[in-house]
Amino acid sequence: MCGIVGYVGEERAAPILLEGLQRLEYRGYDSAGIAVLREGQLAVVRRKGRVKGLGAARSLEGEIGVGHTRWATHGAPSERNAHPHVYGGVCIVHNGIIENAAALRAACEARGEVFSSDTDSEVIAHLIAAEKGDLLHATYSACRKLAGSYAVAVLSAAEPDTIVCARRASPLVVGCDERGLYVASDIPAVAAAGRKVYALADGEFAVLRKGSPPRFFDGALKAVGKQEIVYDAAEDIPAKGGFRHYMKKEISEVPEAVSRSLCDLSKGEFSDLCEVLCHTQYLHIVACGTAYHSGLCLQYAAQKFARIPAEAFIASEYRYSDPIVPPGTLAVAVSQSGETADTLAAAALAKERGAKVLAVTNVPCSSLERMSDFVLPTRAGREIAVAATKSFNAQLAALYSLAGALARGRERAAPPLAAAASCVREALAAAEQVRGWIPYFLGARSVFFLGRGADYFAALEGSLKLKEISYLPSEGYPAGELKHGTLALVDGRTPVVAIVTDPALADKTMNAVHEVYARGAAVFLITSVPACLPCAEVTASVLLPKCAPAYSPMLTSLPLQLLAYYVAIARGNDPDKPRNLAKSVTVE
Ligand code: G6P
Repeated sequence: MCGIVGYVGEERAAPILLEGLQRLEYRGYDSAGIAVLREGQLAVVRRKGRVKGLGAARSLEGEIGVGHTRWATHGAPSERNAHPHVYGGVCIVHNGIIENAAALRAACEARGEVFSSDTDSEVIAHLIAAEKGDLLHATYSACRKLAGSYAVAVLSAAEPDTIVCARRASPLVVGCDERGLYVASDIPAVAAAGRKVYALADGEFAVLRKGSPPRFFDGALKAVGKQEIVYDAAEDIPAKGGFRHYMKKEISEVPEAVSRSLCDLSKGEFSDLCEVLCHTQYLHIVACGTAYHSGLCLQYAAQKFARIPAEAFIASEYRYSDPIVPPGTLAVAVSQSGETADTLAAAALAKERGAKVLAVTNVPCSSLERMSDFVLPTRAGREIAVAATKSFNAQLAALYSLAGALARGRERAAPPLAAAASCVREALAAAEQVRGWIPYFLGARSVFFLGRGADYFAALEGSLKLKEISYLPSEGYPAGELKHGTLALVDGRTPVVAIVTDPALADKTMNAVHEVYARGAAVFLITSVPACLPCAEVTASVLLPKCAPAYSPMLTSLPLQLLAYYVAIARGNDPDKPRNLAKSVTVE
């Protein structure tokens, strides 16, 4: 998704900006640009497509500039709509969505101002250019007119040694070292050995002036002090390590991701959280995409093992659902990136209504971590491919650990999790068999994934993976619900993947297998119940090791991730950078 970088200091800005943009590339974007200011002149280079298309910008002279990767929201992905946007000597890069852009733009146009893009963002440059006073005050006054979310970095020809930054609901961090001052939309874009990094809080402003330390201001423009963020400067984009794609590499890392993310919550560092768990009456789990599916798995395990009422919510729905948050609610916000706008807003709403917030995230120092009362880290390591894989399995390891701790707090027991985790490597090896299934999926009209109980959540995740990177229509469905309408869609061109890991429910799901087979579907089985095999109605199967059924998505997700991967590459798609999608969704 959109990324911001900015620099002012002693060095040439262009190479620093381009390097920063490269570090943001994995997030997904469709155009990019930089602007450099020199002797009162702004030079802007923008391109549709990849950052490498900005090569010509490398030679720009000037020690101050801003850069951006854009993921289109308002206006097509094109050079004209790429950031930076310039008006009246003011240059901006913006992440977020300006919800009243149409009205603001109309007012500017009524004054005779001409717009050069279709974006909601350009209006910010117009508003700042129309304000009086220095750049900080002009930015402040302009921001007061904006509705929606923004992280913005502003240059002005009138103040050639200053970048002004502002944020509301979109993350922004500032860095400084002896070479100069930096701003970026996330820590990896500014992380470097010896560089101090600070995060802007919601509603804050920052002034980066060459030769001075960064200055920070609150929503009333009162100067505020800042604590430095402790981060891992060594963490950089990992190499592909001999793999053709990050996605395949990341799937191969699932066993380590799971074992590192298992967590003993009885240990000292979690004692405050454990105390809260003992008094927790309800769980509200908020998340998006893949993280929502791991949230469903927590809902299931917490209810089953701890007998605690738990509900997983899609964060974008939760935030507008006027939720009832009873006393004793723990809100569990699950997010790989810790920057997903809807998840942050949902967690903030739960907190406002009295819940304690537990962040389950893969990125230390992320916005989610900073706004939460407690943190349960997932330790999947950096995930680069847009479609989440190892972070899902790592989330499950952490969330099942949490379910176990909740159960113990109620003098109940959960099945041993370590036993399930120890099967992951064997499951990964078995999962490779899905490669032989590919010919059946290439010509498919759509694909169904079926399961019951925890297998249903795995089905949802399997379907999401396939959609994300192969672009085949698919649906994850509760096996028992298919016959209530959706069965009408099943024919010889709809392969069905059935997931069966709970011996108590196996016969029930196999009934659905019989039903879809009878309608001409080729059926593929992912199971840990040997009694389901052999079955003449099954075209091919993967037999996985047995584990407690509630934990099975940790294993069944592996053949599903690999199936999506192999289908995507067989269809000629880049599984690491699927069309239209972004890794970190920092807008609503
Ligand atoms: C995007 C990604 C998904 C991810 C979702 C939630 O849509 O493409 O892979 O599951 O965001 O991201 P989060 O970082 O909050 O887990």
